[in-house]
Amino acid sequence: MKILGIECSCDDTSISIIDSSKTIIANEVLSQNNIHKNFNGIVPELAARNHVLFIDKILEKILIEKKLDMKHINLISATAGPGLIGGLLVGLTFAKTLAQFNNIPFIGVNHLEGHALTTRLTDDTEFPFLLLLISGGHTSFYFVSDSNKYKFLGGTLDDALGEAFDKVAKLLNLGFPGGPLLEELAKKGTENLVDLPRPLIKKDTLDMSFSGLKTAVINKTKDKFYRDKYSSADIAASFQEAVSDILCSKINKAINFCDNSISPFRNVVISGGVASNKYLRFKINKIVERNGKNIYFPPPNMCTDNGAMIAWAGYELYKKGIRSKLNLKARPRWPLEEIRSRK
Ligand code: KG4
Ligand code: ZN
Repeated sequence: MKILGIECSCDDTSISIIDSSKTIIANEVLSQNNIHKNFNGIVPELAARNHVLFIDKILEKILIEKKLDMKHINLISATAGPGLIGGLLVGLTFAKTLAQFNNIPFIGVNHLEGHALTTRLTDDTEFPFLLLLISGGHTSFYFVSDSNKYKFLGGTLDDALGEAFDKVAKLLNLGFPGGPLLEELAKKGTENLVDLPRPLIKKDTLDMSFSGLKTAVINKTKDKFYRDKYSSADIAASFQEAVSDILCSKINKAINFCDNSISPFRNVVISGGVASNKYLRFKINKIVERNGKNIYFPPPNMCTDNGAMIAWAGYELYKKGIRSKLNLKARPRWPLEEIRSRK
């Protein structure tokens, strides 16, 4: 089977074609960074307009390049939420139109489910697994026992981790998108120099908080003592170290909790845009291995938003007999644990 995946929930326009034996035939991601960098953040209306401008051209390009035709496509899967409503409507309407016109089954996928199942496409990760999703809008732990069964275990009480990276990067005048630029700068700095808090690290739950950490960075960068003594690179490195301490401590707790209170499991998956951070990958790898579990990260280009993960999630649902009707609505908010109400 060949599956077309369409992802427009934020600022990347992505269309991919995969097949049911896990070959990624095409994975085209058109970034809008050049547009949004002028505003130091994503402008939803501009994002929507640019999805409209390019979505059909991207499809045409990959069909020509791969010498394929819509008649070769057996399933169309598109992100139906959560995300920015303008982009969701563009992707979903495009997908439904293609599905109706070409008489192809259609599935609306939860974006978080795309991130959750990516390593089943790239690495054959088996259920059940502990998932930590760290993206621009979400920072949560789930226990995933099947492609339609997500148990929320805990997460951030305020900022998402990617948001915290982006805000700290903005503060350090690094530009947009902040996460990868902050990671680059941190390589030149010394960690542990700037004294930063690790909010909620001692709390026994999986609650996390990144807004306090961000505020501490704001205060430190305003403080003359710190400004004279430490470079932006030291601040970036110390921020990243604080984030890593928080994540590693909570991953430890999450593993113990799942082992003792949910079910035996062997696999841990870390996904979402922030999971492409090499420093965090290194630290998390060590803590997960120490717990005797297997760790899975998507390849860096598939940690961030892409159509292939949406195609794969759609295919997993298709195998379960799930189909969406053509009147499926876009959902700007759609928690993963409410996944059963997809129809
Ligand atoms: O998953 P994603 O592409 O979009 C959402 O679903 O939100 O994640 C985007 C987020 C942004 O906040 C971006 O700054 C962050 O992931 N990010 C990173 C890195 N690459 C992307 N954060 C830290 N280090 C990175 N290397
Ligand atoms: Zn995402």
